[in-house]
Amino acid sequence: MTMPTSRLPALGRRYLMLAGAAAAAATGLRPAHAAAQAAHNSASGVSTIRLVARPGRAALVGPSHPETAVWGYDGRIPGSEIRVRQGERLRVVLENRLPQETTIHWHGLRVPNAMDGVPHLTQPPIAPGEIFAYEFEVQDAGTYWYHPHVRSFEQVERGLYGPLVVEEREPPPTIDRDVTWVLDDWRLLEDAQIAGDFGNAMEAGMAGRVGNTVTVNGRVPDAGFTVRSGERLRLRLVNAANARIFGLVFEGHEPVVIALDGQPVAPHAPEDGRVVVGPGMRVDLVLDMTGRPGTRARVLDTYYASLEYKLLDIAYGAEPLRDRPPAPPVPGLPANPVSEPDLARAERHAVVLGGGMMNHLEGALVDGRWLDAREMTSRGLTWTVNGTAAAPGLHVHEPLAVLRRGASYLLAIRNETAWPHPMHLHGHSFRVTTRNGVPTRHREWQDTVLIPRRESAEIAFVADNPGDWMFHCHVLEHQAAGMMGLVRVA
Ligand code: C2O
Ligand code: CU
Repeated sequence: MTMPTSRLPALGRRYLMLAGAAAAAATGLRPAHAAAQAAHNSASGVSTIRLVARPGRAALVGPSHPETAVWGYDGRIPGSEIRVRQGERLRVVLENRLPQETTIHWHGLRVPNAMDGVPHLTQPPIAPGEIFAYEFEVQDAGTYWYHPHVRSFEQVERGLYGPLVVEEREPPPTIDRDVTWVLDDWRLLEDAQIAGDFGNAMEAGMAGRVGNTVTVNGRVPDAGFTVRSGERLRLRLVNAANARIFGLVFEGHEPVVIALDGQPVAPHAPEDGRVVVGPGMRVDLVLDMTGRPGTRARVLDTYYASLEYKLLDIAYGAEPLRDRPPAPPVPGLPANPVSEPDLARAERHAVVLGGGMMNHLEGALVDGRWLDAREMTSRGLTWTVNGTAAAPGLHVHEPLAVLRRGASYLLAIRNETAWPHPMHLHGHSFRVTTRNGVPTRHREWQDTVLIPRRESAEIAFVADNPGDWMFHCHVLEHQAAGMMGLVRVA
């Protein structure tokens, strides 16, 4: 069986389908745009960055195809990698040159509520032509990302996203190279343009918008990823796709997970040797390049059993860096200053995810009114959290829960639907304490917990960041079709 490449089976005739990829010169995978512009202003001690959200053109598929019309930060895919040091203040001045309102959400960073980028909830949306300045202190080291929170299912899909790396105060030893792969998938038509059916109601009730073309750092990774024998990499994976879950297998290599959603975790091998990254999530790996000079190894995405494909080739250069990678063990990262929840005292709240296709939903509360399933559908709503479907215009909503500042909470989340949901909480990191009632091995800190169909998970955290915080599915079509709510920390 031949394995398709990162150009996936097309959806139909009008969509992009490339057979027999022309082998591009092995120039190597392009890095995410260099950590630019972090002009450090020593007088104020603030790193200032300017971003312009605007239309642009990107060679997503490479020179054999027309450029794709995109929306990007400074017109680029992905936006520049923002790099700051833990404890610094970051100021980002955003100019909106899009034909729509926008905002930026700093996914995973525990910022003050007014800087969280949720339209109508934490700030007015930024109108076309307007400027907004975000500024906050960066508390946690790790891998994060930024994206709009207005019509995310369209704006993120068109390319508005970028990685944000917070360096540890003491960089971990024995890492030779720090590499970021921002993963995304696109639904491209034959002329390599983005299909315009954003938020399609039919797929919103199922898996969400899964595309036909996968990019790494904004390019189909035909040329592979060039490495040297004996290197030890820190590989930061960011899933910026609307709906696709990645499950990466590094053939012939043994990646070690050192952080999840930016937060350090006890170094461990991924379950079944496969690195699973749901939408919105990040995984940091240490990857030892144990292959011989001149050889190649495949990185496969095997998440969807029927849709396995080769993401890219790891290509070893002729010159080794050293005989073998630094001897194990892989260094653990220093913990971030996240408050430890007191599980014995934590107040427990049940969260039930419902709705979607293959489920019989009678109706839900929408804006405080009961709507039956037909009325919901006519408003583009199909998912619920605790029997409520959140319509756009979240500010009119009652919180799912009101939490006392400084107290510990446990959310017992049950996915009663036929689809997986990566549930993201703003403003906090939480420990995933159990799955299906069984304690997790690593009690990992996350900001997004992927819950498979008809499974459950418990998450625990200290509600120490005051404000109204979104809690929603990061399949962006699910979010738009009702699967969101908010928790209030007062
Ligand atoms: Cu990454 Cu509320 O989003
Ligand atoms: Cu979902």
